[in-house]
Amino acid sequence: MPRIAYVNGRYVAHGAASVHVEDRGYQLADGVYEVCAVSDGRLLDERRHMERLGRSLGELRIRWPMTPAALGVVLREMVRRNRFSEGLVYLQVTRGVAPRDHAFPAPAVAPGLVVTARAMPVEPRDRRAGEGVAVITIPDNRWARVDIKSISLLPNVLAKQAAREAGAFEAWFVDGKGFVTEGASTNAWIVTAKGAIVTRPADHGILRGITRSILVDLAGRDRLRLEERPFSVKEAISAREAFLTSATAAVTPIVKIDGHAVGNGRPGPFATGLRKAIAAVFERSGIHSTPAADPKL
Ligand code: PDD
Repeated sequence: MPRIAYVNGRYVAHGAASVHVEDRGYQLADGVYEVCAVSDGRLLDERRHMERLGRSLGELRIRWPMTPAALGVVLREMVRRNRFSEGLVYLQVTRGVAPRDHAFPAPAVAPGLVVTARAMPVEPRDRRAGEGVAVITIPDNRWARVDIKSISLLPNVLAKQAAREAGAFEAWFVDGKGFVTEGASTNAWIVTAKGAIVTRPADHGILRGITRSILVDLAGRDRLRLEERPFSVKEAISAREAFLTSATAAVTPIVKIDGHAVGNGRPGPFATGLRKAIAAVFERSGIHSTPAADPKL
């Protein structure tokens, strides 16, 4: 089954897909992206991803490459053409192609749009969540606008590689005051002895994860104790539980931080329960539906 990519208006063979050498995404990381999970052939939370994309584009003054509704059609068409039911869709919008110059091209050029999609089986992810993962901590050396989902990800790349080399799944960034901001590609959470779930407020210091937002809504609905406040590495290590969230990892329990066992060293009931609960509240948009027309589950 050949993989298909979408590049600036065309569906092309993945292996032959290419962009111009002077695409500003390639030369200057001048662009934004989204990763949307696909489950049972349907996009999860397309509406929220589109909203966040609009915000990222707006903050960087990049135009939408097409309307959000049209982009939704491309995303769903990519799932159909790549014929998979479990996986992810990646989309990237850059400021476009122009002779290299740091300032914006004037007059403005058409933004570039690339979409890729790939299967990602559920079983290994479920197994990983069943076992729990290890994280390491690392100083947060990123820029001050990490709330924008920019493709400029070098600190995240280096952090994830450091985690890999330490045998961990994720690296947690830690700010100058010793508080955890978020993971290289996930949001960070702990559960206190009193059973409150804690995550850092979604200000400019972290990315407002879609999975994070869903969990915040779920906590409100189910009257869970939620505290949006910073927590330190020390508090996390002695917490009852810890876990991470992202579109592809959903809720994944953390059992080790910098080599220290969290709780009893096994996934706890909060993280495990939230992983189950969240699966029922994702908005799903299928091939023949639009997010607006799709019933809320
Ligand atoms: N990462 N924080 C960062 C820095 C991220 O890159 C991500 C997403 C998240 C979680 O956001 P969400 O719940 O919307 O996936 C938090 C994606 C999956 C990635 O870069 O592959």
